[in-house]
Amino acid sequence: MIEVKNLSLSYSNKKQKVQVLNNVSLSVAKGEIYGIIGKSGAGKSTLLKSLNLLEKPDSGSVVIDGIDITKIKKDELRKIRQSIGMIFQGFNLLNSKTAFDNVALPLILQGKLTKSEIKTKVDGLLALVGLSDFAHKHPDSLSGGQKQRLGIARALTTDPIILLSDEATSALDPETTNSILELLLTINEKFGLTIVLITHEIDVIRKICDKVAVIDKGVIVESGTTVDVILHPKHELTRKLIIEEESHRYLEQVSDFYKFDKTDNSHLVVISFIGNTAFDPILGQISHELDITFSILRGELGRIKKMPFGQMLVEVRGSVSQLDNALKIFKQLNVHYELIA
Ligand SMILES: Nc1ncnc2c1ncn2[C@@H]1O[C@H](COP(=O)(O)OP(=O)(O)O)[C@@H](O)[C@H]1O
Ligand SMILES: [Mg+2]
Repeated sequence: MIEVKNLSLSYSNKKQKVQVLNNVSLSVAKGEIYGIIGKSGAGKSTLLKSLNLLEKPDSGSVVIDGIDITKIKKDELRKIRQSIGMIFQGFNLLNSKTAFDNVALPLILQGKLTKSEIKTKVDGLLALVGLSDFAHKHPDSLSGGQKQRLGIARALTTDPIILLSDEATSALDPETTNSILELLLTINEKFGLTIVLITHEIDVIRKICDKVAVIDKGVIVESGTTVDVILHPKHELTRKLIIEEESHRYLEQVSDFYKFDKTDNSHLVVISFIGNTAFDPILGQISHELDITFSILRGELGRIKKMPFGQMLVEVRGSVSQLDNALKIFKQLNVHYELIA
């Protein structure tokens, strides 16, 4: 559905040239929710905008549904842009217009539908996002979550095949974030809409993305299925983003109660289980077999999209060779581990 190949983009000012995207390639299949995660300034927004050429790359190609949009004429590009909806962290709604008119505007501009056809369509979209009762309100009087619902309805008016989301939940509280993510998931499943979203929050990736790419200083440093990348991160930045940062943050939070002392007989390990393994009594068995003990410092059982997983931060007490044996068993059982101290 979307093939980005060797995309590079730079901004030049008088003094210097800043390389914002460096040889970025990625491939998004039809119906997929594809997440791009990275720190602030990594180039996420620029990359997202280059998918519909709101930003023009210096080199490389963007192929949408078989068409290289870097090579087509302006009016062809305009048509393709209509099949790509966009939502933003700051909502980008028109405050002078009602919720209804915000959604209707793209259709009025398009000029293809009659007034009553537009009404049917807009009413349907407002119902889809749960805003039927707010059609005549202005965005100013809506909550953050409602504004984003309205943003989503507006993005869907032209029946896009792709939805681009730039930090759509970053301004929202966790509960509202969840409800918006649920809505995106519903739309993705109901209409087979392909979604590319950028975020700096790993939770957003975990909850709804099928695939993820990690971007750092304009370079994609790692990509793959969400399950693989989250549970078996390869790149240092990804590890930091996902495992180590969370574990270290946690240890800091509980430092009044627990302090880890690194000795030859105590080790900190993060272990991750996926699928059926998540429910197996692995730690108990290993402890029994190898005569070592585990203290579970932090544990999480959850799902990555639909796949069950468990992740634990444990202190292992045992000699280095006992630890090695335990890690060998983890490997045999396909349990991923990360020795963090
Ligand atoms: N119009 C611009 N002119 C010059 N530099 C820019 C412009 N837009 C973005 N940048 C720079 O490009 C880098 C990436 O920006 P952006 O894509 O917004 O990152 P992100 O969305 O990951 O926070 C930043 O260093 C930013 O300062
Ligand atoms: Mg940004």
